[in-house]
Amino acid sequence: MSKRTIVALPGDGIGRAVLDETIRVLDAAGFEAEYLEGDIGWEFWKTEGNPLPQRTIDLLEKHKVGLFGAITSKPKDEAFDELSQELKDKKLIYSSPIVGLRQHFGLDICARPCHTYKGNPLNFIRRGKGNDIEEPMVDVVIFRQNTEGLYGGVEWSNPNEKVYDALMSHPKFVKNFGEVPKDEISVSTRIFSKKATERILRAAFNHAKQYGYKSVTLCEKPNVIRETSGMMYKMAMEIQKNDFPNIDLWNTNIDAQMMWLTKNPEDYGVIVAGNMFGDIVSDGFAGLIGGLGFACSAQYNPDSGIGVFEPTHGSAPKYADYDTSIVNPIAMIESACMMLDFINENDIAKRIRKAVADVIEEGKTRTYDMMKMRGKPDVVNNGAASTKIMADAVIAKL
Ligand code: NAI
Ligand code: MG
Repeated sequence: MSKRTIVALPGDGIGRAVLDETIRVLDAAGFEAEYLEGDIGWEFWKTEGNPLPQRTIDLLEKHKVGLFGAITSKPKDEAFDELSQELKDKKLIYSSPIVGLRQHFGLDICARPCHTYKGNPLNFIRRGKGNDIEEPMVDVVIFRQNTEGLYGGVEWSNPNEKVYDALMSHPKFVKNFGEVPKDEISVSTRIFSKKATERILRAAFNHAKQYGYKSVTLCEKPNVIRETSGMMYKMAMEIQKNDFPNIDLWNTNIDAQMMWLTKNPEDYGVIVAGNMFGDIVSDGFAGLIGGLGFACSAQYNPDSGIGVFEPTHGSAPKYADYDTSIVNPIAMIESACMMLDFINENDIAKRIRKAVADVIEEGKTRTYDMMKMRGKPDVVNNGAASTKIMADAVIAKL
């Protein structure tokens, strides 16, 4: 097997700890790779005024596959305050480098699997018919459109005249906001393109077909958000009818879905949604399988073959400076397995996933979150596994 080159993007806070441990697991599993580190995150914002330097973009462009830890993002004013003094008059505006990566490389497909591990003490349970306790097995993959919609960044406060005039051409704007002073208005748009909508829908249906899921659920709100959600729903029906007649298309509203996901999560297979609703519904499902310590993700562009694989959690700054890292590396390890699948190293991915499942089922090694402890430096003295000990346990199972 020839050596792969992987761009390692630790980012901020706990990103480094979970990424380093994951690379140890990959090595132990026999994945032969060279890791080139890319600069990304808050440090580079503060010192260079750019959390996503061009050299990092070039590195990914060249090597195509990135393993990403997490970054810290802070609101506009705080970001400005922390910018180094000599950059302060350059009119720089902070924007999230992970969103930047998605947009720069058109990483428009985001997949977030959530499946129950046997023996995970954080598994969702509910009361059954006879008041008995049931532990439903969740096996869901959320496909989230990753570049458009409400996170597309087309927004204004005190919009300029052209934008304001355009808004005033809509009768509902006139009726509901026509009397509001312009400088008291903020607008964030929700733009869906047909092309990107079709790509995420097809990615979802293809995944369902490839892995034997019987349904694809479109989770939007077409009855209210008629233009964007409505377009997506219409397109989903067409695609299902013409190309995937053996897979059921279900249609749920995001709000109702958030209620149903604790009632009957085992009924869902593949879920597909726009950017924000995909973000919401995937966090909802992640809560049923153990939360942020378990939630992994892939984001990729099938045309260019560029992919970035990351846990869905952030940089958890409050744990970043502990002498011994306590956070759960499983979300990062599972994200690396998605990377392995993406580059057709499926056997190694399978072995790592089995090792993770074995560790969880055995129940001897548990990070603080799995032990339902408050995250504090002393959790390790109280029996919780550190990030490293958890990785060691996975490596031992390999
Ligand atoms: P967060 O995900 O960093 O942490 C929230 C809480 O979840 C933590 O305090 C911790 O209790 C728990 N947690 C997170 N990861 C864990 C792990 N691996 N094991 C065990 N417990 C874990 O979200 P928060 O606190 O809202 O944001 C912190 C920073 O991260 C912010 O600056 C935010 O903008 C950024 N962020 C970055 C993301 C990314 O890099 N993709 C995603 C989400 C937030
Ligand atoms: Mg999220």
